Amino acid sequence: MKGRVFSGARPTGKQHIGNYLGAIQNYVKLQEEYECIYCIVDIHSLTTMEDVSNMQGNIHEMIVDWLAAGLDPDKSVLFVQSHVPEVMELHTLLSMVTPLGWLLRVPTFKEKARMQPQNVNYGLVGYPVLMTSDIVLYKADAVPVGEDQLPHLELAREIVRRFKDMFSPVFPEPQARVTSSPLVLGLDGVNKMSKSLDNQVDMAATPEETEKRLKAAYTDPQRRYRSDPGRPEICNIYKLHGFFDPENMADIAERCRSARIGCVECKKMLAQAINTTLQPFREKRADIAANPEYVKEVLDDGARRARIMAGETLGEVKEAMHLL
Ligand code: TRP
Repeated sequence: MKGRVFSGARPTGKQHIGNYLGAIQNYVKLQEEYECIYCIVDIHSLTTMEDVSNMQGNIHEMIVDWLAAGLDPDKSVLFVQSHVPEVMELHTLLSMVTPLGWLLRVPTFKEKARMQPQNVNYGLVGYPVLMTSDIVLYKADAVPVGEDQLPHLELAREIVRRFKDMFSPVFPEPQARVTSSPLVLGLDGVNKMSKSLDNQVDMAATPEETEKRLKAAYTDPQRRYRSDPGRPEICNIYKLHGFFDPENMADIAERCRSARIGCVECKKMLAQAINTTLQPFREKRADIAANPEYVKEVLDDGARRARIMAGETLGEVKEAMHLL
């Protein structure tokens, strides 16, 4: 039997090339080997209230990107977290087996509490319990996540073990599958690519926008004049070439070091490589975006399929906890 993968991502709207290289590409690949369930976690967004006023728009843009990138509703279950309200029931039940001390020690909680001292809400402390509920409601075996999510996964495993000790072994212990993708830095050359830092290149950008965004990107600061030799090894633009035209790497490095190519030209070449790579995606995206009915159908069908699995698991949990 195929193993089951679950992963969730917050609705951040249009996806950028960092999302693509870091997560989406991997999601697409996993579809060949696993039964995959991919969820847009809108309820989790409410713990920080970032971007929530345009929640519906962000969900829409994100699922359109996912579909155009190759997430296939015939292979995977694609849905929005709140469309399966069973997850909130499970969250309440699992909160009864989760010691508060475990939650207060989670690094992401401590960081968020520091960053938003005016809004250290109950839901924020329970964030990993909701995430555990996401995963175990579907009895997922494997969870593709970035490095930063490992403490959450460890907690999920501890909650599963504790539930087993206190009640019964309803859930498999989920294994983290750390995506080996390299860190993709944004156009500032310093921070991880992210929409909130406005240092991103959207997958769905037009070729002109792509070129324009790259024009302003940070390169080797020692290269002040066109005639200054560059250091490709410290240049983020060079690093991005590695993802989109790896076969030209050696040539570009050589021409940068000898100042036979300037940053402007180098960025133009990168824009071209990105535009060529993403052209089929962008065409497909335009078709999907023109058909909002289809997008709604995908999400409705995903939620319907997810609810069937969720209902079964929740029944077992209630029975184990003497509620039935
Ligand atoms: N916490 C994850 C993040 O911020 C999102 C998430 C929610 C998730 N539920 C999940 C990831 C379940 C994997 C599995 O990126």
